[in-house]
Amino acid sequence: MKVVAFNGSPRPDGNTQQMIEKVFEVLRAKGIECERVDIARKPLRGCTACYGCTKNGGTCVLDDELNDWFDLASKADAVLIGSPTYFANVTAETKAFLDRVGFLARVTGALIRKPLAGIVAVRRGGAVPTVDAINHMGLINQMLIVGSTYWNFAVGMDKGDCLEDQEGMKNMENLGENLAWLLEKLNT
Ligand SMILES: Cc1cc2nc3c(=O)[nH]c(=O)nc-3n(C[C@H](O)[C@H](O)[C@H](O)COP(=O)(O)O)c2cc1C
Repeated sequence: MKVVAFNGSPRPDGNTQQMIEKVFEVLRAKGIECERVDIARKPLRGCTACYGCTKNGGTCVLDDELNDWFDLASKADAVLIGSPTYFANVTAETKAFLDRVGFLARVTGALIRKPLAGIVAVRRGGAVPTVDAINHMGLINQMLIVGSTYWNFAVGMDKGDCLEDQEGMKNMENLGENLAWLLEKLNT
């Protein structure tokens, strides 16, 4: 089994990345393969509303990595999407990713009944709408949203601060446990 995580933070070694890696720790301990893709290290443009994907069977006509990432998500057993909170929402790159992947998923049905969990880093406020923004893409695509013991976020400002949020990191651990449990049920 394989889980792929798309990290929408532009910061290498940032809080979102570290939270994703915490979930991965739990999954890897259960023998689940994990891959992280950092989608925000360079600009990612949003959907241009050309509707080309509705005419060509579900391939984005823009020439960048998005089709490869969608393919990765389609082949994975579960998908994680991480983002820092930027003005009480996802980063611009994460939004571009959600819009474009979400549209390809609508056209192809490739993400139906695939588990999805958002993972959000926040300094102080706006984490819940950020988690919601990720979940909305999955909910309209018949994905199975995985929760934890709190909404899927942890608190931190500077890189690594989230590790001091004990409840937040425990929340990530529990998310890993819940995802592993669901994957086992879905695959037996
Ligand atoms: C442009 C920008 C907007 C931000 N907006 C918020 C916000 O609305 N609420 C908040 O609590 N933190 C906000 N932050 C802080 C980040 O969410 C926080 O530092 C987070 O841990 C960064 O995650 P990362 O290390 O994965 O990039 C903002 C940071 C930036 C750069």
